[in-house]
Amino acid sequence: MTDFHFFTPTEIVFGRSSEEQLPCLLKKHGANKVLLHFGGGSAERSGLLLKIRTMLDAAGIPFVELGGVVPNPRLSLVRKGIALCKAEGVDFILAVGGGSVIDSSKGIGYGLAYDGDVWDFFDAKAKPAGAVPVGVVLTIPASGSEMSDSTVLTNDELELKRGCNSDFCRPRFAVMNPERTFTLPAFQTACGVTDILMHTLERYFSKTHLDISDAIAEGLLRTVMDAGRKVLEDPFNYELRATIMWAGSLSHNGLTGCGAVADFGTHRLEHELSTMYGVAHGAGLAALWCSWAKYVMSEDPSRFESFSRNVLGGKEPLGTMKDYFRSIGMPASIPELIGRKATEEEIETMALRCSRGGDFKVGNFKVLGKKEMLDIYKMANE
Ligand code: NZQ
Ligand code: ZN
Repeated sequence: MTDFHFFTPTEIVFGRSSEEQLPCLLKKHGANKVLLHFGGGSAERSGLLLKIRTMLDAAGIPFVELGGVVPNPRLSLVRKGIALCKAEGVDFILAVGGGSVIDSSKGIGYGLAYDGDVWDFFDAKAKPAGAVPVGVVLTIPASGSEMSDSTVLTNDELELKRGCNSDFCRPRFAVMNPERTFTLPAFQTACGVTDILMHTLERYFSKTHLDISDAIAEGLLRTVMDAGRKVLEDPFNYELRATIMWAGSLSHNGLTGCGAVADFGTHRLEHELSTMYGVAHGAGLAALWCSWAKYVMSEDPSRFESFSRNVLGGKEPLGTMKDYFRSIGMPASIPELIGRKATEEEIETMALRCSRGGDFKVGNFKVLGKKEMLDIYKMANE
């Protein structure tokens, strides 16, 4: 077991009507003026935003609003949010939405605590030394950003999607009401299930095998695969929605990776698909994972045997995962993802961007340079 540092400062308030505790949580975490940050309309349509505005008014908590976060959130809106918060004296950001809204909020939080350009943190030119705090009302379980140390933004001018990791951006609290996820379309539900599975798989596929981490990971994987299958048939089932929601947080707060080196190669490859084609992150992961797995399997076949035995009931892993993704409406290749084959030029561009011009490597289970990235994109393009 390698040495590790496990830090999960996020206060979780989970259950029906949990959002009613927002005013108390905001006061407890020192919010004097709040930015209410949200996406493209789902939280307005469901009545959640109206409920939050009414509660904040009643509690005398001043706030300003900024909506319009899109999936694969953009740096341009983050910059707008930083300027707005500076002008308005905002000292707390409340994200109402999923990974995109949370990451946009985290980006604003970083920018408010820094004199330079916030992109410096995503371009590895600077390291965060602080951030204005973020709280979350989660509406889609997927990214795990509500507890994670990660922020992923798309620079819309440079067409680059990059992440930044630091404990400063871990949300102070997350309010999670599974009923708020009843309105999710089947496609978004399945994208979320895939991302949750992938956050565990990225850590499970390590050359360090640990009884405790493996047992947690295998339990999560079995549970999420099963609930993911069932919830698409039964979308208003509270227990299934709750199971997936809590699993989403546990899969990306670092728990399953303690004591081993994680991989995250498929995530890096996927970020280029999101940037190139604007696809949903979860769908992009499903389109790549089986090709990644086939490519790296010889590194440590025993890991795939454990996955098969302890998660898939002894079934062969690659075909079984391909069938699973398709059964929940996810693509299992790039043509299934974008409706055509990627061109050679597009694949070259994605590998060039992922390798940051050619020299940067990703992954750990098998380290992937530009050549290996090209090989995997090509396999997934069949
Ligand atoms: O914008 P609105 O109208 O709210 O619609 C959203 C959006 O179109 C909709 N939605 C959300 N809650 C809903 C709902 N629709 C109906 N009912 C609800 N209750 O769902 C769509 C997708 O939302 P988004 O926030 O983009 O999804 P997700 O949570 O999957 O976030 C994806 C982003 O997170 C990043 C991804 O790269 C991507 O940019 N990730 C962030 C991570 C992190 N910070 O730790 C880790 C992940 O690996 C991931 O990379
Ligand atoms: Zn992910």
